[in-house]
Amino acid sequence: MCPPAWIGNNIPTLLRPLLLLLISIYHFFMTIVEIIFIDRQPWKLFKFTELRYKSFARLWAHNGEQMSIDMPGPCTELLRKSQGLVLDIGPGSGEILSRFDAGKITAMYGAEPAEDLHAGLLRNAGKTGFANKYHALLCGGEPESLIPALHESGILGHSGTGGTAEDGIFDEICCVRVLCGVPRPKETIRGLYALLKPGGRMVICEHVVNPWRTEGRFFARLSQLAFTLLGWPLFMGGCELQRHTVDYLKDAGEWDLFDLKYYQPRDPIPFVVGELKKKA
Ligand SMILES: C[S@@+](CC[C@H](N)C(=O)[O-])C[C@H]1O[C@@H](n2cnc3c(N)ncnc32)[C@H](O)[C@@H]1O
Repeated sequence: MCPPAWIGNNIPTLLRPLLLLLISIYHFFMTIVEIIFIDRQPWKLFKFTELRYKSFARLWAHNGEQMSIDMPGPCTELLRKSQGLVLDIGPGSGEILSRFDAGKITAMYGAEPAEDLHAGLLRNAGKTGFANKYHALLCGGEPESLIPALHESGILGHSGTGGTAEDGIFDEICCVRVLCGVPRPKETIRGLYALLKPGGRMVICEHVVNPWRTEGRFFARLSQLAFTLLGWPLFMGGCELQRHTVDYLKDAGEWDLFDLKYYQPRDPIPFVVGELKKKA
């Protein structure tokens, strides 16, 4: 392909992540300005994890709704089938709550560490029919944060072996656009596997490392590296573009069903979407 055609074909693919990165840099600096000049609590700048959540919450509050209009692949259909006792990891401000059928769900627990998103989350839970069935937990999906929060909420009895809930308590766990940002993803995903009941279902809609050796492409893989070096994880609340999430899920434990497919595999932000069922 001649260079102008190549540029014409690839620039739109690159522009979307670049635009998102620029927007996130703007929100990161605006968060710092707000902390110093509006909240007048400059010492909070040294609490880096909180700063990261706060700036991502600002970005999401301004753009989350727009970024949730088109979800990749069959994400909406898969969420619609969710039932029973559900754990949603990183629900944000609840932009995707309308995709669930609240009537099929007995209770939903949302593990959301960004405090600034909780008001929107509870508002959306009310609007989408969850009302008293929704429990917003101020915690992350990583075991050391999630397990104590589940204990505190009363859903996880104190009988869980070693605090890891080996027997499983949830019928379903939903991970939508969140595993890219959880700390120590291998261990965190293993912890989530343990929280699923035998036969329980996991719904996955996650962006991952570009599968350039199979259905992806090298240029997109390279651009993931370039965006990472430009500070993507720093400005995007810890989100990593190069995660091998499919491998971590496979290695988390035994599955009766492991049905994940790539969507936009040739893009810098390719998704895997599908459902998994824990061995019964
Ligand atoms: C891209 S947003 C997606 C929100 C929602 N799942 C959706 O798809 O509309 C990622 C969310 O994950 C949250 N998050 C970040 N780190 C997390 C962690 N360690 N555990 C759980 N959620 C986390 C962020 O605060 C944010 O709300």
